[in-house]
Amino acid sequence: MPAESASNTALLAVAREIALAAGALAKERREEGVEVAASKSSAEDVVTFADRETEALIRSLIAEARPNDGFFGEESGAEAGSSGLTWVVDPIDGTVNFLYGIPHYAVSIAVVEGEPDPGTWRALAGVVVNPASGELFTAAAGTGAFLGERAIRVAPAVDLSQGLVGTGFAYLAGIRTEQAAIVGGLIHQVRDIRRMGAASLDLCAVACGRLNAYYERGLNPWDHAAGALIATEAGARVSGLRGAAVSREFILAAEPAMAARLEHVLLGLGA
Ligand code: IPD
Ligand code: CA
Ligand code: CA
Repeated sequence: MPAESASNTALLAVAREIALAAGALAKERREEGVEVAASKSSAEDVVTFADRETEALIRSLIAEARPNDGFFGEESGAEAGSSGLTWVVDPIDGTVNFLYGIPHYAVSIAVVEGEPDPGTWRALAGVVVNPASGELFTAAAGTGAFLGERAIRVAPAVDLSQGLVGTGFAYLAGIRTEQAAIVGGLIHQVRDIRRMGAASLDLCAVACGRLNAYYERGLNPWDHAAGALIATEAGARVSGLRGAAVSREFILAAEPAMAARLEHVLLGLGA
């Protein structure tokens, strides 16, 4: 194995252990019953005590294992390191599912090199674990993507009319209305639409062929950092629109020919 892949694999091993510990904590808290701690960008955008506690655990385990690396998490913010690497963390992706007891939420942890900006960073390792199902998705740059021990690949391109397409909606009602209008224009052109409620798992669903494509507007870096690497390593094109890098503006992930087909239609709908 080339030296760089070996060091990415070593980072992945650290990320995997931390994600599994965090997933166990989140699952335990879910079983005990979940309480909302506060709301954020809107009344619908909530944070539970478990989100904060899970991120605190992840942050302390990273500080112990990798004291010179930076941290960028949804609930506790950013802190630069001195190594050039940053850990990008969503402690519970799919918080609304978590709150309602829908067993589809994830711990998402990525290690990136460069500025903690998805437009320029290079993702080195990523883990997405769904504690409720026990599924563990992983990737280290240059070494492929895995579901547990099994190597995964995106589904081959199909005609858009046969494509199962995942998406998500923002917490702000005005943006959600605009997103719904685009779904309204798309839904009769595809097999069907899925809104499963955890962006990291949507990206992993593309990676293992459970979705033909996924797109969303308005994601934050921690929502996609790990899942985008897993989808890329599984053969997806993961990008913004019109050749742009992934950003808060847009993310689209699918097998490359499939991505081009969906992008064409989305642009026609004003995405
Ligand atoms: C949300 C989920 C959801 C997506 C939203 C995200 P959170 O993350 O990933 O699927 O549609 O855009 O904000 O708030 O549950 O961590
Ligand atoms: Ca999230
Ligand atoms: Ca979250």
